[in-house]
Formats: sequence, structure tokens, C-alpha cells
Amino acid sequence: MQTKNILITGGAGFIGANFIRAMLSLRPDYHLVNLDALTYAGNLANLADLPQDQQQRHHFVHGDIRDGELLARLFKKYAFAGVIHFAAESHVDRSITEPQAFVDTNVGGTCTLLQVALAAWNEQRRPMDFRFHHVSTDEVYGSLGAEGAFTETTPYDPSSPYSASKAASDHFVRAYGRTYGLPVLITNCSNNYGPYQFPEKLIPLVIDNILARKALPVYGDGSNVRDWLYVLDHCQALLQVFEKGRPGETYNIGGGAERTTLQIVKELCRIIDARQGKPAGTSEALITFVTDRPGHDFRYAIDASKIKRELGWQPEHSFSVALEATVDWYLCQQEWVEGVKSGEYRQWLELNYETRAC
Ligand code: NAD
Ligand code: TYD
Repeated sequence: MQTKNILITGGAGFIGANFIRAMLSLRPDYHLVNLDALTYAGNLANLADLPQDQQQRHHFVHGDIRDGELLARLFKKYAFAGVIHFAAESHVDRSITEPQAFVDTNVGGTCTLLQVALAAWNEQRRPMDFRFHHVSTDEVYGSLGAEGAFTETTPYDPSSPYSASKAASDHFVRAYGRTYGLPVLITNCSNNYGPYQFPEKLIPLVIDNILARKALPVYGDGSNVRDWLYVLDHCQALLQVFEKGRPGETYNIGGGAERTTLQIVKELCRIIDARQGKPAGTSEALITFVTDRPGHDFRYAIDASKIKRELGWQPEHSFSVALEATVDWYLCQQEWVEGVKSGEYRQWLELNYETRAC
């Protein structure tokens, strides 16, 4: 079997690690080179228990997407058949307090990666089956009112430094497709949830706070709506787009599960109270309304009809079942959660991986 080398950036993060796990098990002919800078969000424990045969098809490189020389060495060594680019600063609240890091990695890093990928692609005589796939967000479209959904042609209108940086990187990816012919793909997805999500995002944060009997912070009045997507459904969609998507195209990916923040928080309280045999309503007493996030987008909703029509993808997991599975994962993986909270996960690199620059 001929092996294909694929560069995955940000594969130690939440979605990247779920994607690597899915891809290694579904595609025995793929060899994945996982380039990750291991910021606070990168955690090699997310990939610690890969089966032996899969470990051999996963090569971790500790490095930064802004390091053009390292990227050039990797492209030379592995002659990648494609790139799936997850690496980013991903948390809106952090982008409000430290926007520069978002410009540096999300915009600067993506441009460096594009430039090196383009040079390598030209050197390989422009293979038309090469793919540069940028994993992006629905937040680039800005905020919806009570009605409607984002399509692939909705104008960009980002509100936060995070979404502005992702919008800029999408524009650069599209420009490299149009200007230089690089076969690019962009996916814009809604809010993911599931295993291995860093407990700063709403769902894992609330699960953790319920278990610790801490306040559950709800921004504003809790009426903001997100369209929740189970990460394993997202990974299936990414695989379809990477393998079958038309170069130059954008595909929106959504879970078709719109919920307000307050609905999510109450549902998590209900599930955990039931798991712990506590009377209904016990954990809801922890709900605390706090000052709203500045520039907080009111509603996101995805029209995913294009990916369904062209590639036959639709989410396989119902929201209620996947949310329960997510709670159960966190309940069973308290060691993982404690490792993240204590900072112990930062030692994974030294303990478990030999760092090979290239
Ligand atoms: P994450 O924050 O969990 O992981 C990001 C990963 O990128 C980490 O492993 C981090 O170490 C790595 N990284 C950061 N800066 C880097 C750099 N300069 N060089 C190399 N590696 C670097 O993020 P996530 O939730 O897994 O999101 C992955 C991608 O999906 C991001 O591009 C994000 O914008 C996009 N996205 C996420 C969501 C979501 O709900 N989580 C929704 C839509 C789109
Ligand atoms: P988040 O998980 O940060 O994702 P995003 O901002 O990218 O959509 O937040 C999801 C929603 O939950 C968003 O409307 C903000 C809200 N939220 C809270 O109300 N409290 C919190 O502590 C967090 C982290 C988010």
C-alpha cells in the first residue's frame, strides 16, 4: 500500500487530536506529521493512547507554523500530499485580552504556511491532487438575528479579534488559490464539543465547575445562540472535504443543534445531577449571570446544505446523545482534567516524546 504523508498543524489541540485519532483509524494509508507548538491549548496526552500500529503512522514535531525554515525542511523531507491546518489561537475571550497572539499565529502563521506550501507545490510541478485545507469558523460571518443561517456566500463581518484573525486567514487562503492556483479548501464550522476540549470553552468549563460545585458563569442573560456540532461529526466532514471537496470551494459545517447558553448550562446541570443521584435542580443553583462579553455575537446558525448536497455529509449524532456522551467522557477522564488544571500536561513532551526538529 502506498503511504501518503499529510501535514496536520495543531494536532495536539482539541479538534486536531480528535481528527488525528479518527484519520489514523479510518485511513491506514495515511502517515500524519503533526506540527504543534504546544501552547497552553496543546496537549500530547490527547494522543497518548494510540494503538501501536497507529503510533507508527503519527509523527509529532514540536514546532511553530511561523517558523518558515522548519516548514521548508518538513515539506522537503515528507513531500506532503496535503495539509490540514488546525493550528490557531482559538478562544474568543483570550483574543479580547491578548489580540496580538491571534494576529501572529492565525494570520502570520497561516501566511507563512501558505508561502512554504506554495513553494513546495511549485517544486513538485504543481500536482493537482495536492490539497491545502484551512479549518475555519462560522464566526467570520458575524452575528445573526433571530432568523436565518450562514451560507457560504454570507459576507464576512467578524466581531472579535479572534474572528477577525480567522477571517483574514481565510482571505489569504482563498487568495493563494485564486492568484497562484494552489488547490485550497476552506471549511467554516460551528461550535464544537466533545472529548479533549480545553476547559475554558463553555461546555467543558461548565461540566468542570458543576463537579467542583463552583459558580457557572453565564454571560449577559444567557440568550446567545450557538449551533452545536459534535467533534466526531466535524471530523467526518473534514475527511470528506479533504478527500472529495472541490478545490477553491468553501464548505459550511454545522450540527443543526441551536441552543442558547442557558439551555446548554441547564441541560448539563440536569445530566450531572442525574448521574450523581442528586435531586433535579440541585446544580442549577450554581448558575451565575455575569457581565456580558464585549462584542458578543448574538446568534450563529449554519446552513449545511452544500456539504450535504455535494459530499453527502450530515451529522450522525443527535445533540442529546452526544452531549450525554461528552459528560460521561469528562466524568471518566478526571485524570485528564486534573492534568490540564494542574498544568501537569505541559510535561507530556519531556516525559513521552523524543523531540525531533525534523
Ligand atoms: P485548540 O486551541 O484546542 O488547539 C489549537 C492547537 O494549535 C493547539 O494544539 C496549539 O498548541 C496549536 N498552536 C497554536 N499556535 C500554534 C503555532 N503558532 N504553531 C503551531 N501550533 C500552534 O483549538 P481547536 O478548538 O482544536 O480548534 C482547531 C481549529 O478549528 C482552529 O483553527 C479554530 O479556529 C477552528 N475552529 C474551532 C472551533 C471550536 O469550536 N473549537 C469552531 C470552529 C473553528
Ligand atoms: P465559547 O465556548 O467561548 O465559544 P464561542 O465564543 O467561540 O462561541 O462560548 C460559547 C457561548 O457561551 C458564547 O455565547 C459565550 C458563552 N459563554 C458563557 O456564557 N460563559 C462562559 O464562561 C463561556 C466560556 C462562554
